[in-house]
Amino acid sequence: MSNTITINGETVTIESDESMPLLWYLRDTLSMKGTKFGCGRGLCGACTVHVDGRAVRSCLTPVSSAFGKSVTTIEGLSEDGSHPLQLAWLKHNVPQCGYCQAGQIMAAADFLSQNPSPTAEEIDSAMSGNICRCGTYVRIRKAVADAADQMEKADG
Ligand code: FES
Ligand code: FES
Repeated sequence: MSNTITINGETVTIESDESMPLLWYLRDTLSMKGTKFGCGRGLCGACTVHVDGRAVRSCLTPVSSAFGKSVTTIEGLSEDGSHPLQLAWLKHNVPQCGYCQAGQIMAAADFLSQNPSPTAEEIDSAMSGNICRCGTYVRIRKAVADAADQMEKADG
């Protein structure tokens, strides 16, 4: 199997330990600090990125499991911060300390790709694995709902 991963559109060859968590590779090898280390045990969601479009916890994902796949991090969600979720996050002033927010947005992006018109309950349920120590859950729910509306309008 090829030891390459496409990260935000750029193909990289992995020369480090294949069992290294993807989170470590992103942060320590590539110095991409947008993806955060929270618990390191799959419990908080701060490290959420996409592998082939699906949200994964990069602290528990060995780099080898992403070989031949496409990884998207918060830095690559849009080129200029214009993803509807990013705009909704700004509009609703979602972040407080900000630490959990990249993971929140990446989890929400996968969720909306699977459920473009969610109810408030579905949003809460989908986002419940992403912990926010600052308690921004109400604003997260509003922003996800708003982004879903904007995406629906854009799709006509
Ligand atoms: S750091 Fe990965 S789930 Fe908490
Ligand atoms: S905004 Fe502080 S942990 Fe979520």
